[in-house]
Amino acid sequence: MEFKLRKAEARDVADILRLVKELAKYENMEHQVELTERELLEDGFGETPCYHCVIAEVNDVQVVGFAMYYLTYDPWVGKQLYLEEFYVMAEYRGLGIGSEVLRYLSDLAMKLRCTGIMFVVAENNEPSMQFYKRRGAEDLSEGEGWRLFRFDKDSLVKMAAPSEE
Ligand code: ACO
Repeated sequence: MEFKLRKAEARDVADILRLVKELAKYENMEHQVELTERELLEDGFGETPCYHCVIAEVNDVQVVGFAMYYLTYDPWVGKQLYLEEFYVMAEYRGLGIGSEVLRYLSDLAMKLRCTGIMFVVAENNEPSMQFYKRRGAEDLSEGEGWRLFRFDKDSLVKMAAPSEE
């Protein structure tokens, strides 16, 4: 099967959202996807994009996979490429698309002088953890004991400066 990778464009937001939802469903968390195409468009394709995507396409038209990424900064070692989402549709897995996407991102990370690619994997997603480990990824929760935290919107509202009325 021939496939090609390319940088996402504004016209891809419907496919990106479709794949985001498929991945969320795969992780049994589809009810948590609140984003709309409009927000994806504004946030990814405006003057200061919050994210970038690489798209995997077959037959020059059909979008079958994607990876969403952006840069973060680690004050110990500098620039990092953060892999936010990575998904290939079930019927196109095992054909080398995922490996090629990692090659694309590794090339990009090297060009941008990043010192690593960071990502989070759901604890029950064993196949994906094995996929990354076979390619040399380290499990930092296991090895270094880091834990993932979040302030949700309610917490932000409580902490933010009260609005003046
Ligand atoms: N399905 C999955 N894997 C298969 C299949 C199949 N039907 N058949 C074979 N495999 C094996 C391959 O032999 C290969 O083994 P290897 O690691 O020894 O090389 C590996 O699984 C798949 O390699 P690729 O074909 O290069 O990758 P693929 O195109 O299948 O994409 C990916 C990998 C993205 C992890 C894909 O399996 C997927 O979308 N999984 C479900 C969603 C997911 O877990 N995404 C990652 C979440 S974590 C994050 O987003 C940061």
